[in-house]
Amino acid sequence: MCSTLSSNVPLPIFELKSVSKQFGNFQSLIDINLQIWTGDRVALVGSSGAGKSTLINLLNGTLRPTQGEVWVLGRNLARLRSKALRQVQRQIGTIYQQFHLVDNLRVIHNVNAGHLGRWSFLKAAVSLIFPMEVETAARALKQVGILEKLYERTDRLSGGQQQRVAIARVLVQNPSAILADEPISSLDPERSREIMQLLRHLSQDSGKTLVTSLHAFEYARSYYKRIIGLRQGRILFDAPVEAVSPAMVEALYKINERR
Ligand SMILES: Nc1ncnc2c1ncn2[C@@H]1O[C@H](COP(=O)(O)OP(=O)(O)O)[C@@H](O)[C@H]1O
Ligand SMILES: [Mg+2]
Repeated sequence: MCSTLSSNVPLPIFELKSVSKQFGNFQSLIDINLQIWTGDRVALVGSSGAGKSTLINLLNGTLRPTQGEVWVLGRNLARLRSKALRQVQRQIGTIYQQFHLVDNLRVIHNVNAGHLGRWSFLKAAVSLIFPMEVETAARALKQVGILEKLYERTDRLSGGQQQRVAIARVLVQNPSAILADEPISSLDPERSREIMQLLRHLSQDSGKTLVTSLHAFEYARSYYKRIIGLRQGRILFDAPVEAVSPAMVEALYKINERR
């Protein structure tokens, strides 16, 4: 699927139109409007509780908005039946803070989980015993720098290596856009820099859209072109990195009065 439908007018990969998300009485996101285009490399920054994960989960269709519309690849998610929704969701790969891997499986099986939207149940089951598409998995692991771990048990890997496995799984999925929800918050600074460099390199190489939520502004400044600052569920700024001033960053993180 591409980001243009019947007309030649390019469509954003993601578009949020007046989106709000409420959990009970609590407003997690309030009147969010944004567009993200093919090849954009966007960091979503803000304090804990600002609404970053909620926004990522709206973009991949895991959550539905309370108000407003979420458009992905030119489709309004609320209008899609489950099969069409899954087709759109297959085009969005997500990486999480806690990796979301099956610990006691070998690395190849976790990487092959990137095929799950396409493989039949039977193929997936057989592959757990006789791994299939080993070359594809090996290529992805090579791209993330841990080819030698192909047959290692996943829980024997370090945190940084496990995040690389999660990234390899997304490469096998081969989506149009990659979302990463605080992918470095359980890693040490050295590993964090490596993962940031890897994500930047992969998105530059493939031209894939990359949206990463980050708690710390410094990583966003170093590795991203566009920064969206979220504070208490609202967009405080959405600007090219060079336009983000120290005052804007200070306003983003200043200790809150209550909403
Ligand atoms: N499933 C949920 N039920 C209730 N409240 C939630 C839920 N998910 C998030 N929230 C609340 O929404 C706010 C934003 O959460 P989140 O999007 O996880 O923020 P961030 O990722 O920026 O830390 C938080 O105050 C959180 O407690
Ligand atoms: Mg979060």
